[in-house]
Amino acid sequence: MNTFLIRTFGCQMNKHDSERVAGLLRAAGMSSTDRPHEADVIVFMTCCVRENADDRLIGQVASLKALKPRRGAGPLIAVGGCIGQRDGERLLDQVPHIDVVFGTHNVSHLPALLEAARAQGSAQVEILAESTDFTSDLPAEREHSWHAWVPITVGCDNFCTYCIVPHVRGRERSRPLEEIVAEAAGLVSDGVLEITLLGQNVNSYGRDLYGTPRFAEVLHEVASTGVQRIRFATSHPKDLSNETISVMAETPAVMPYLHLPMQSGSDRILAAMNRHYTADHYLSLVHALYERMPGLALSTDIIVGFPGETDDDFEQTLRVAEAARLDQAFTFIFSPRAGTPAATMEPRVPTSVAKRRFDRLVELVQRSALAKNRDLVGTVQPVLFTGVSKRDAAVLSGRTPGNKVVHVVLPQGSDAKDYAGRIVDVKIDAAQTWFLSGSLLGTNP
Ligand code: SAH
Ligand code: SF4
Ligand code: F3S
Repeated sequence: MNTFLIRTFGCQMNKHDSERVAGLLRAAGMSSTDRPHEADVIVFMTCCVRENADDRLIGQVASLKALKPRRGAGPLIAVGGCIGQRDGERLLDQVPHIDVVFGTHNVSHLPALLEAARAQGSAQVEILAESTDFTSDLPAEREHSWHAWVPITVGCDNFCTYCIVPHVRGRERSRPLEEIVAEAAGLVSDGVLEITLLGQNVNSYGRDLYGTPRFAEVLHEVASTGVQRIRFATSHPKDLSNETISVMAETPAVMPYLHLPMQSGSDRILAAMNRHYTADHYLSLVHALYERMPGLALSTDIIVGFPGETDDDFEQTLRVAEAARLDQAFTFIFSPRAGTPAATMEPRVPTSVAKRRFDRLVELVQRSALAKNRDLVGTVQPVLFTGVSKRDAAVLSGRTPGNKVVHVVLPQGSDAKDYAGRIVDVKIDAAQTWFLSGSLLGTNP
């Protein structure tokens, strides 16, 4: 076993775990490749939050049939992440040529499971009910040297009625504050410019350890390590405190960007979703945020077609989305997940109705995003360059503090590599719905 390839689906938690899988396999003496036919080990880090995520995994694993006609031939195939956790042994019935199934609580066991599969020539399945350690304690191979994911909590206790996450990630557990700060300090001395703090609900950080949430303190302490940019996800509106809003507003390293999922603008539907807030509460938070941070970029998640959603409920969602002046929204059609309460709730919204609502919502979000982007034309933004644009290698691509993609023409004679991982001032010249264009003003000291 010399080379490995990792395919990652789903949320940032999986991206983080994939970096740890890469670190573990590298520590076991392997190196990475991006060509499936050269890989000795292929690891899938999977997501089952919606049905289409499930389908994609089965399609991808099945498409390896040519590389791996049977067990014992071709690369070892390991399936981990949330589908591994949910399905365990059952995955072998669906795709018989899988060699290892592991879950969200035993990432650190992957090298041993692969070794056993190789030595014994038989499938290895190990799913644990809960974790004893945090994956953050494992070695990491980070995708970008300047960026790091730092989980502050794992799991979720909220049990929104549509959501599978608490079932596959377990109960919410916070990492001790000193441990988070020590990790952040280490990353800064390693050259990391941007840290993204992760948790399914970062705002409840510390409740299990200290009795009261201490997320505002996490922001404050991580900023004191000298890191240039702090981002975090996800914030649950029921737990976003005034104290956190104040620390965001007063701490320059905390980026003026917030992902605050609203899910719906109807109080009836929010109650059926078990979200524990009202549309008015959501809008009062938005109001307080813009008052303290007029330049804030706001994004959200919205589900349309939740069981029982009427035209009137949906109109409420449009109203709240409009009033929130969103910069971006991740919009989803309700997808029933077996084992969650909403999967059996009635009446189901017909697909054609859900699709019509979805299209109207997307149209509203696009208008809102373009309007917010236009506000930035003429301003100067410190942009953290990430590389070249996917479509054009002569165009640099980076992110503003508000997390917007910016494209800048690569200066004649320069190399894109010189910009990647650097923060440079850019004058914003034009706005599109999903990106900005600008010109370089120079290099920040
Ligand atoms: N912990 C985060 C992210 C959860 S999953 C949070 O609370 O926001 C990301 C998004 O997927 C959710 O915010 C929700 O909008 C969407 N989602 C989750 N389950 C879904 C389902 N069954 N059908 C459709 N969308 C779903
Ligand atoms: Fe799922 Fe709700 Fe937890 Fe988010 S807060 S992970 S939507 S149960
Ligand atoms: Fe998906 Fe698991 Fe994240 S279900 S959204 S990868 S926690």
